Amino acid sequence: MELLIRGGTVVDPAAGRTFQSDILVKDGRVAALEKKITARGARVLDAAGKLVVPGLIDMHVHLREPGQEHKETVASGTLAAVHGGFTAVAAMPNTDPVADTPGVIRYVLEKAREAGRARVYPVGALTVGSRGRELTEMGALRAAGAVAFSDDGRPVADAHVMRRALEYARMLGVPVISHCEEPALAVGVMHEGLVSTRLGLKGTPAAAEDVAVARDLILAEMTGCHLHVAHVTTAGAVRLIREAKARGVRVTAETTPHHFTLTDRAVVGFNTNAKVNPPLRTDADVAAVREGLADGTIDVIATDHAPHAAHEKEVEFDLAPFGLVGLETAVGLVFTELVAGGVLDLVAAVAKLSTNPARVLGLSAGVIEPGAVADLTVIDPAAAWTVDRGELVGKSKNTPFHGYRLKGLPHATIIGGEVHLVARGPTES
Ligand code: DOR
Repeated sequence: MELLIRGGTVVDPAAGRTFQSDILVKDGRVAALEKKITARGARVLDAAGKLVVPGLIDMHVHLREPGQEHKETVASGTLAAVHGGFTAVAAMPNTDPVADTPGVIRYVLEKAREAGRARVYPVGALTVGSRGRELTEMGALRAAGAVAFSDDGRPVADAHVMRRALEYARMLGVPVISHCEEPALAVGVMHEGLVSTRLGLKGTPAAAEDVAVARDLILAEMTGCHLHVAHVTTAGAVRLIREAKARGVRVTAETTPHHFTLTDRAVVGFNTNAKVNPPLRTDADVAAVREGLADGTIDVIATDHAPHAAHEKEVEFDLAPFGLVGLETAVGLVFTELVAGGVLDLVAAVAKLSTNPARVLGLSAGVIEPGAVADLTVIDPAAAWTVDRGELVGKSKNTPFHGYRLKGLPHATIIGGEVHLVARGPTES
């Protein structure tokens, strides 16, 4: 059946513009973009007053399957993705077992196919068991469907191992996504500073990230491999990446909604939902991260969606696992904090959620043009809402944003021409 998305404002980051247009979707692809389209018998989705943007892609998500299905599954995580406006996610390999064999990659892809929700692009582990010693069979993982490599959650301590990983990834034509924390310095449970001192908690200094970013930039320059720096949080990392880009190093970077919104003060009260790796930093770091987003140093906004069960988080701060859920609050935070906040214009904000992650991962996605696969997100920029952890559809509810008033909400998530979420149902014409 044909789908007519009527009366929306199209945001097209590839062309760098916004314009009023109807969109006709046929056989899962964009068939036409014109000011006024009539299509008798087509299903109509009224997008008046809404934005129609390329399907959002979250390139940093923990789906927890296989092995930790009490936190999240591929099915529940991709449902949360669809509710958050994401048509695709990249799944990090720190599952149990780790995604270090083609079998695990294929398992995740099969689960995603069964779920039939957001598309899932698996990230393969860089090292066996993500233990940082021997490289995985990267070619075999790539052939099974891995779109990038990472030991996310377990930084690669050994520079020689990282060098070799970058060399192989370069040969395979895919990026290495680096969780940049120097393990010898990253020994705390939150950012090291005034707040950690006051709370009596052990801190991880900003230098833990800066040192690791500097090392990996040097190795990326040496090997010519595309390095993607995950979850940038410090002013120092932003500066180092900016300088490296200016020198022509093949580097891209992401940050998260929690790192451009919250500071270490969110931990006060021993709030374990604000315990995350890398940690929430200072006002100056948040300002630097926002500057990095604005000037293009940071290409991508990704959530680092890291679900943990209530009983795991409701323990002493020191004992709680790191991580928070992000898929269902990302759009609201980007629109409220960055667009309304004057940090990014609409086109840049949408680029960092769609076109840019597609480019980083080499996906033919993130564009709206005739012939393109109809992965589209319809956003209501005027919808005001309050985050309620009880309303999250993902399995875990560990959000630090409970009670936040946000403006901007996904209205419909369209994957391959199929409407997966509609705030207000489509009508027949
Ligand atoms: O806070 C985090 N949680 N950071 C990571 O790098 C891993 C993630 C997780 O898997 O829970």
